[in-house]
Amino acid sequence: MPEGHKGHLPRPARCVKSIITNPTTARLDMSEKSPLPLTSHMAKGLQGSARVPGDKSVSHRALMLGALAVGETTVEGLLEGEDVLATANAMRAMGATVERRENGVWHLWGRGVGGLSEPETVLDMGNAGTGMRLVMGLVASHPFTAFFTGDASLCKRPMRRVAEPLERMGARIVARSGVRPPLAVVGTDAPLPIVFELPVASAQVKSAILLAGLNTPGTTTVIEPEPTRDHSERMLKHFGARVDVGPGPKGGRIVTLHGFPELTGRQLVVPADPSSAAFPTIAALIVPDSEVTLPEVGTNPLRFGLYETLKEMGADILLRNPRELSGEPVADLVIRSSRLKGVVVPPERAPSMIDEYPILAVAAAFAEGTTRMQGLRELKVKESDRLAAMAEGLAKAGVAVEVEGDDLIVHGKGRPKGGVLIETNLDHRIAMSFLVLGLGSEQPMRIDDSRAIATSFTGFVELMQGLGARIEASSPLIIAIDGPAAAGKGTLARRIAAHLNLAYLDTGLIYRAVGMKAQREGLEPVKAAQMLTPDDLKAPDLRSEEGGQAASKVASIPAVRAELLEFQRRFAAHPPPPAVGAVLDGRDIGTVVCPNAKIKLFITASDEARAGRRHKELLERGESSIYARVLEEMQARDERDRNRSVAPLVPAPDAVVLDTTLLTADAAFEAALRIIADRTHA
Ligand code: S3P
Repeated sequence: MPEGHKGHLPRPARCVKSIITNPTTARLDMSEKSPLPLTSHMAKGLQGSARVPGDKSVSHRALMLGALAVGETTVEGLLEGEDVLATANAMRAMGATVERRENGVWHLWGRGVGGLSEPETVLDMGNAGTGMRLVMGLVASHPFTAFFTGDASLCKRPMRRVAEPLERMGARIVARSGVRPPLAVVGTDAPLPIVFELPVASAQVKSAILLAGLNTPGTTTVIEPEPTRDHSERMLKHFGARVDVGPGPKGGRIVTLHGFPELTGRQLVVPADPSSAAFPTIAALIVPDSEVTLPEVGTNPLRFGLYETLKEMGADILLRNPRELSGEPVADLVIRSSRLKGVVVPPERAPSMIDEYPILAVAAAFAEGTTRMQGLRELKVKESDRLAAMAEGLAKAGVAVEVEGDDLIVHGKGRPKGGVLIETNLDHRIAMSFLVLGLGSEQPMRIDDSRAIATSFTGFVELMQGLGARIEASSPLIIAIDGPAAAGKGTLARRIAAHLNLAYLDTGLIYRAVGMKAQREGLEPVKAAQMLTPDDLKAPDLRSEEGGQAASKVASIPAVRAELLEFQRRFAAHPPPPAVGAVLDGRDIGTVVCPNAKIKLFITASDEARAGRRHKELLERGESSIYARVLEEMQARDERDRNRSVAPLVPAPDAVVLDTTLLTADAAFEAALRIIADRTHA
């Protein structure tokens, strides 16, 4: 049977390929519908050199300014993650020419400041908060309307912070409650320059206003309470705009952009992303005997708070060959395993490392002593609530952790236990952080879904594997439960599935579901079998007399049986999200449907015990029943089942037989859990 994704990693490779083979239409590729779980195992020393992909912030801005510049812009080292590809598509949709050449260099021909045109379709920004907020700024000062949407994570994120200043400039924003996407920006043909003091330290909001200010007369000014990443200011200057930056009140900055600049095409090289470099950096620090080099990493001081903090924790990180790339400072990082100690990270450092707290919290778990990360309020409104995600995930992995207001406090003890499953909720940085934790923890770490990693770090798994990390695609956990009637397998299967958060398939219902579907929707039985979905098994009337009759009409059709075999295998290989595994119960699951299932249980009981249970059940349902007759019928059915030529009812050779004759339902459940625990790691 198809065994999920064991041993190879189809996803990242496919994603990159889709960009290369079809660069002009490359779009968000979340086409893989099922979650892709991954497991990371304790690694021996990590060694080698690897360039992490281009900086996400710089990549978004390179595409946007290239789309506004006159003439050709080339971009080398662009991050080809899904977030940035969404921005590339948005720029195309608004009239810019954006091409990726075979050598990986991107070429853009811009429309000139104020020259963007109305997109014909909705701009799908995927998972990208930066993409959505900055493009909203661009649209605000153009005389047209653009519609924006994104994935489930982005559609939960607050957009009021950009909507307010853009409305003050004259645009109108129509959004869902809480100013969340999907939303429309109705741009203005008479934008007003504003002076705006940011209520939160956010480079995205600052940049949205500055981008709107490009097509606005006079000067547009943003006052930041604390300095935030200045890629927009640097790149705007690099393209020829006039941007004045001066000190603001209480240590902040005042940024002033002069409207209607002439932007001219440039040749850009994007530095390696310090936020992505953070993952191999921490991995090298926590895995003993490691030495890793990460070339050309951006060292912009407004992005470098993590590295400053790690130095204070005692990390051995060298910055070699410092230089400049397209207006941004870079250096080669050399990282060696280090004994880390806990530190206090002050709140004013947050803007310079806002995306790095999840992975810093992992480093803190491996440090000796307490690390207190202060002022993390903004962490709650990222791709997920990262403050809660880290606190919960670390606690599950055996780390002592507390949240006090907006502070995250991690009590490090050298090496966490690990050995748990983490739900990533479409958050790439949560996914990568816990995989890195698993490289150093006592037991492997598993994440439920790795698809979001491709939004910011293409080829993450391959890069880490290249350095010696053990990160593998994990096939879904499949538990096959077979056995004769009234042995208690259905109740047991349901309880196990609920207890382990696995999907449950009662295969006894599938013929009923197909029969009823065929009847209700007037379909050919084979068609009904082909169209069967797990939701059809939730129909309330499947156990009725009518359901039984409908089943017998379709159960003998070989093509229906073949379709349903595939249905069961698909269910096991791709359990409905968020489950990362499945429990199937029936009569031939371990032998025919899922012969590779990791756990196989054969539940049985003496004929008398089973007949007694069935007899009692019938009486309780108010039906008449004679014990001796029930026993006779049951024995006759067992005989038929054992001797039939197709899939006879026998335990698979590797099944554990559990005799429930003398067991209560609770005792059978406990015994089954022990067997499962024995056969799995976590
Ligand atoms: C970004 C700014 C930060 C950061 C995000 C990228 C940018 O967001 O978290 O990943 O490119 O401007 P905020 O500005 O909302 O803090």
